[in-house]
Amino acid sequence: MIVLKNERDQEGMRAAGGVAAQVLDDVARFVAPGVTTRDIDRYAAGRIRHYGGRSAFLGYRKYPCHLCVSVNDEVVHGIAGDRRLQFGDVVSLDVGVSYGGFIGDTARTVPVGGCTPEAQRLMDVTERALHEGIARALAGNRVVDISRAVQQCVESSGLSVVREFVGHGVGRAMHEEPKVPNYVDGQPSPRLRPGMTLAIEPMVNAGRPDVRILEDGWTVVSEDGSLSAHFEHTILVTEGAPEILTCIGPGTIAPTR
Ligand code: MF3
Ligand code: CO
Ligand code: CO
Repeated sequence: MIVLKNERDQEGMRAAGGVAAQVLDDVARFVAPGVTTRDIDRYAAGRIRHYGGRSAFLGYRKYPCHLCVSVNDEVVHGIAGDRRLQFGDVVSLDVGVSYGGFIGDTARTVPVGGCTPEAQRLMDVTERALHEGIARALAGNRVVDISRAVQQCVESSGLSVVREFVGHGVGRAMHEEPKVPNYVDGQPSPRLRPGMTLAIEPMVNAGRPDVRILEDGWTVVSEDGSLSAHFEHTILVTEGAPEILTCIGPGTIAPTR
């Protein structure tokens, strides 16, 4: 069952999305050479608390961290630890915040200090694929229209879409129906309707699309060791243009540091 959000729910989703976006922005600016992934987790925990939210990830299926931090060939669900970020790394940051009963889910990959042109292109294409997908999140379209746009953007650039993990509906729960794949999977695809809130989140590998999970049971890495990027927004399907809920704007809490 796909949950449609009424006006009040939509306000709640805007608020949660705003907090998630603000936390992600703060965390992205905290990333620097020499910082450990555990430092990032502690910092994120502090920012989430500062804005009055709770991590939607901590404790989810026993996930042990406040956000997902995935470095280089790590695709998603990286676990914070002693690893020190080095100049030239790329780090994917995924923030899920619960605020006022709703969840905002948003991710971005950033360079640590600087990166190679290849890594920059991977990030640029992944972000563009996200926005190509969002542009298709129109009432009357189907979920597969989003998937197709993402896949075409990625594959026409010579990069690979990860299949094993997909976007999703989001609301009072982090993972609601429908699934939002980043490729055309040939399955029946629900019609998009005003009031649907979706997390669209392409995961893109520079090399082969295949992934595996490390012994920690969480960290997803590219099988071939190639770099991976991840961008995600929570969006609202409306009568008109899609609304990005995980952006910092008027109505969002102002940064205080
Ligand atoms: N944020 C992920 C998503 O975008 C889910 C992370 S689940 C966790 O769907 F347990 F790893 F945090
Ligand atoms: Co996420
Ligand atoms: Co998500």
